[in-house]
Amino acid sequence: MCGIVGVISDNAALKAFNGLRALEYRGYDSWGLAYPESGGIFVVKKIGQIGKAGTDFSKSAGIAMGHTRWATHGKVTEENAHPHSSMDKSIAIVHNGIVENYAELKSELVSKGYSFKSETDSEVIANLIQEKLKTEKTFEGAVRKALLELEGSYAIVAMRKGEEKLVCARDGSPLVLGVAENACFAASDATAFISETKKAIFLEDGTMAVLNKQLKVFETKTGAQLKAVPKELSWDFEQAQKGDYEHFMLKEIYEQPRLLKSAANQPKDKMEKFVSMLRFAQKIYFTGCGTSYHACISGAYMFSSIAKTQVMPVLASEFSLQENFVDENALVVAVSQSGETADLIEAINIAKGKGAKIAGIVNVMDSTVMRLSDATLLMNAGPEICVLSTKSYTMQLALMLLLASYVSGKEEEAKRLLSGLSTGAAKILESNSEKIKEIAKGLSRAKDIFVIGRKNAFPTALETALKIKEVSYIHAEGFAGAELKHGTIALIEEGTPAIVLSTSQTRKQVASNAIEMRSRGAKIIMVDSIPHPDFDFSILVPDFGEANPIALVLPMQLLAYYIALERKLDPDKPRNLAKSVTVK
Ligand code: M6R
Repeated sequence: MCGIVGVISDNAALKAFNGLRALEYRGYDSWGLAYPESGGIFVVKKIGQIGKAGTDFSKSAGIAMGHTRWATHGKVTEENAHPHSSMDKSIAIVHNGIVENYAELKSELVSKGYSFKSETDSEVIANLIQEKLKTEKTFEGAVRKALLELEGSYAIVAMRKGEEKLVCARDGSPLVLGVAENACFAASDATAFISETKKAIFLEDGTMAVLNKQLKVFETKTGAQLKAVPKELSWDFEQAQKGDYEHFMLKEIYEQPRLLKSAANQPKDKMEKFVSMLRFAQKIYFTGCGTSYHACISGAYMFSSIAKTQVMPVLASEFSLQENFVDENALVVAVSQSGETADLIEAINIAKGKGAKIAGIVNVMDSTVMRLSDATLLMNAGPEICVLSTKSYTMQLALMLLLASYVSGKEEEAKRLLSGLSTGAAKILESNSEKIKEIAKGLSRAKDIFVIGRKNAFPTALETALKIKEVSYIHAEGFAGAELKHGTIALIEEGTPAIVLSTSQTRKQVASNAIEMRSRGAKIIMVDSIPHPDFDFSILVPDFGEANPIALVLPMQLLAYYIALERKLDPDKPRNLAKSVTVK
């Protein structure tokens, strides 16, 4: 969602601007920059995409900050875009999160004579800092006092007229600092500064930092200085580039064969800890949102079939349904690419409150979900820049497969399966690519697309439909094949496209569902390991047994991508969506 960048460096404004471009993938509808100029603070704010903006910023600024806004409080307007300035224009702030008590703070400030320009909750922070400067000697002291009055969540960066420093803080929203020679950075995620440095300090909640030529970290509550040791990031700048691919989505789809090859390379101690938590838990919940939730359902099928272990997949946003049953004997496996999804964090907190243990499966190192977890496995998918989850989904599935196999002592089989799938995945993509382009042409004109699957292909049907919806804006619905006759078949008419995900285990039943739809005029796209000349199209995917959910989703991701291209849409930035959903 919102993205923050703060830079202390030469040519800081341009570096902050480039940082914002790197954060574009998080999703935004307006953006802005601030840096010192002519004795004051120059602020520029724009609605829409950064791509169209010029870069004629001052080269002399040694500090700058920027923000991409995904509207929550107030419409998409320049006034509501960040940075927000204090009434006297001496302070500018960028904020990610929600100030829950902003109405009370605002009316208090109004009673003291402050006026406001925006509808946002964030603007109160700038005026509150101005107010605190009446009694505090230092800028950081005033920021700290202001932060102590905020309720809700925040990551902020603030600057003051005439001071060559940035003050940053986090509590509940991500903020990471970058340390380079003669430069420091603050950002919502490290992709904003990875081209400048790989040395990062992941701020803890309830801490703040002062950035000038040096960097100091403090506890916000007490003001006590804390030790901060930078970590070396494992992601590279090149990984966050498109390279020769037209879109990140395509690049990330094609990265999957390589990633599957190394999916089993997990640190032994981390794997053992995770597996022993799974073995000893009396109840196991898998929880996540969106695509990550689909991985949870798939994982539950794998645990049932491979490990003969019951797992309850639960939508993180509906976790309260389990509240009365979660206890200290339960294990909650929290699955998330970003590790910052607000609904998931709430589910984790509910479970922790009941004494349950948390095991995280995340892609982003040091993310909030990782910090809240008692054990974590990293997906090692590298930066996923496209808003749509593709490679993180298959890495989640690969980890689920490995975990279920470890629990039942069949890890060597799983490793062999994944290694074979790695080669198989490249062939699946390559051999079906032209046919998929052709199918995409027809589907791009559809009003609705239905996707069915049974057993372990059922979650893949849900994921296929989500991919199509997100990227092409065509209504798509995925469901279990047998559910067809319980309602959805009423929507099938002449020409309605239906994708049927078939495996050797489900072929007979799912084919009969396909025939039911074809009898009512549906055009059937059969995805299976054997050809189906009786139907309109066949996409061939070799049988990978327990790994079928991974194999089947690959051509479906590609199909969604090509439908979007047919419809002249940008697959990397679907409308209204954000990469990491940090609001509930
Ligand atoms: O970062 P997370 O995995 O926690 O994100 C969960 C969902 O927001 C995410 O999977 C979303 O559904 C994607 N747009 C799917 O492509």
